[in-house]
Amino acid sequence: MMLRTERKKVQLVAASRDVLVIVGAGGMGQAIARRSGPGRQLLLADIDQSGLDAAAAALRGQGQFVVTALVDVKERGSVRALAQAAAELGPVRYLAHTAGLSQAQASVQAILDVDFLGAAFAIEEFGQVIAPGGAGVAIASMAGHFLGHLDSRQRAQLLRTPVEDLADLPFAGPDRFANGALAYGFAKLAVMIRVQAACAAWGRRGARINSISPGVIATPMGAVELEGEAAPMILAMIDQAPAERTGTPEDVAAVADFLFSPAASFVTGADLLVDGGITAAMAAGELDLQRRA
Ligand SMILES: NC(=O)c1ccc[n+]([C@@H]2O[C@H](COP(=O)([O-])OP(=O)(O)OC[C@H]3O[C@@H](n4cnc5c(N)ncnc54)[C@H](O)[C@@H]3O)[C@@H](O)[C@H]2O)c1
Repeated sequence: MMLRTERKKVQLVAASRDVLVIVGAGGMGQAIARRSGPGRQLLLADIDQSGLDAAAAALRGQGQFVVTALVDVKERGSVRALAQAAAELGPVRYLAHTAGLSQAQASVQAILDVDFLGAAFAIEEFGQVIAPGGAGVAIASMAGHFLGHLDSRQRAQLLRTPVEDLADLPFAGPDRFANGALAYGFAKLAVMIRVQAACAAWGRRGARINSISPGVIATPMGAVELEGEAAPMILAMIDQAPAERTGTPEDVAAVADFLFSPAASFVTGADLLVDGGITAAMAAGELDLQRRA
């Protein structure tokens, strides 16, 4: 895999440092880089070369050591090559998997490929290289909590199915989802379940893995969603959220930083909702999605 750095000399100085891999250089990926990157080697990866270059330039401008790599998370071989390249840089102590596509951006098939399979590939492949004392976070979504529906048999299958067979699960086929929102909800619930599935293997390497379920977050993806069909529902959620605001990428980065830290050394296989209370308010019947802001 082709890795790009800025200067050879800096690379030598950085070589002994822990590697933080950020897959997905969008709004959340960059916020996690700003928050958790300093003092570490940042390996920033995305499918979009121009977005990747712009994010890396901004982070370098803030004094960070950044290596970039192109990756397509829907290809397991591409994710594996990224994990191997990361391991060659130094001890891979941290992973933030943030790559994703939302329903306003992509087809049902693309959502399943990127949000479901892509995340499963990253959890699996980085589980092979994560260093002792390391920690990973995979970004799921509050949508997984209220749009993802699986019975106990399906959950068990998602927990036990080897990653190479996931695409063949009968309930994970594109024909099973009436629209992108339902595929997205399934994919994000699946991220939480694959994190549960992987946490013992990560534990055997002395590492932890968790997911974060953000609510409505002001990133490029969040902006696209606010232009799409679901906008009235999203605005109703923001308006009635217990936190009474939209989330920022920094809200998510703060939680990722906590999950990376020794303060979270007893937290693994868990999902943390960072949604301003929307999911809880819905469960409590306190949120009316038909009410307009
Ligand atoms: N923004 C929100 O409101 C929100 C809410 C809940 C969950 N999420 C989830 O948070 C994560 C981060 O989203 P964000 O808001 O930072 O979005 P973003 O659009 O700013 O960033 C997502 C990044 O993923 C990259 N990507 C897409 N397909 C890829 C592929 N095949 N391989 C590699 N990279 C790929 C994109 O190029 C982009 O840079 C996503 O998984 C998203 O589903 C977002």
